[in-house]
Amino acid sequence: MVKKWMFPIVALVALALVSPVLIAQEEAEAEKKEEAEYEYIGVKRCSFCHKKDGTFPSWEKTAHATTFERLKGDEQKNETCLSCHATGVSAKGDLLEGVQCESCHGPGSDYWKKSIMEDRELSIKNGLWIPDEETCKKCHVGEVPEGHVELPEFNYEEMMKTGVHDMPPAAEESK
Ligand code: HEC
Ligand code: HEC
Ligand code: HEC
Ligand code: HEC
Repeated sequence: MVKKWMFPIVALVALALVSPVLIAQEEAEAEKKEEAEYEYIGVKRCSFCHKKDGTFPSWEKTAHATTFERLKGDEQKNETCLSCHATGVSAKGDLLEGVQCESCHGPGSDYWKKSIMEDRELSIKNGLWIPDEETCKKCHVGEVPEGHVELPEFNYEEMMKTGVHDMPPAAEESK
């Protein structure tokens, strides 16, 4: 039985239950906004500094690099197809074709400078992602459009062997 004098108490309890959810929502919104501030710059820029360590040349040979070419005609303008077969649109408005560096490492507008890149923590603060299994699953697990080839079960260890790029030995050792 809820008596009339109890209403303020009931209201307070309800508020206490609801507010963590609201706070979590606000935090998620804030995070989204932060992410949107970073812009894509395209693989060409990354390649200037990542040829020697082998990441760019080995990435270029993967299916990710050319996967935009799998799209035919209007599919190349279809947002759904582009969400997995392209990286995004650069600040200049160019469509970045294929699964480029920034699909897995995050938009690079704020972390690409040498002074920042040399410092792992600083790079991360400026938008660099250290990708993991979840990064891959955004495209390799889940809904695909009707008529799409069925996605094979995603095995991270196996797919890492062939799908990404060589890992530079220097970077491996410093971990
Ligand atoms: C001006 C040169 C330069 C450019 C441009 C550049 N990088 Fe780097 N990057 C470096 C240097 C230097 C390091 C630190 C040494 C290393 O790990 O090779 C580094 C490190 C990294 C690391 C390793 C971080 C870690 O500690 O695990 C990643 C990932 C990376 N860069 C991705 C990118 C991507 C993606 C782009 C393009 C959006 C890019 N870089 C553009 C110079 C650059
Ligand atoms: C959720 C992410 C996702 C979306 C959305 C998506 N694809 Fe794919 N697509 C993939 C993945 C992942 C593969 C690779 C599957 C594999 O490992 O064999 C692939 C493979 C393909 C292939 C090669 C198939 C083969 O026989 O090897 C074609 C062609 C293709 N997609 C076309 C499309 C078209 C057209 C659209 C839009 C109508 C689209 N995709 C939307 C993720 C996606
Ligand atoms: C399909 C996803 C994917 C793409 C595309 C990709 N990377 Fe990576 N990259 C990874 C993963 C996963 C790691 C390992 C992260 C870790 O655990 O340290 C990595 C690590 C690195 C490292 C650090 C190596 C180390 O051993 O710490 C560098 C440098 C790097 N990537 C640069 C690039 C550049 C440059 C491009 C584009 C030419 C690129 N990556 C494209 C997924 C990707
Ligand atoms: C932005 C979407 C996207 C992300 C993120 C992504 N992939 Fe892919 N991946 C694709 C698409 C699309 C293909 C299909 C390439 C083709 O054949 O056209 C593919 C193909 C591959 C293939 C070759 C196909 C096969 O079945 O052998 C491997 C391996 C692979 N990805 C591994 C990874 C790994 C590992 C990660 C995370 C570190 C990752 N991918 C992240 C979209 C993505």
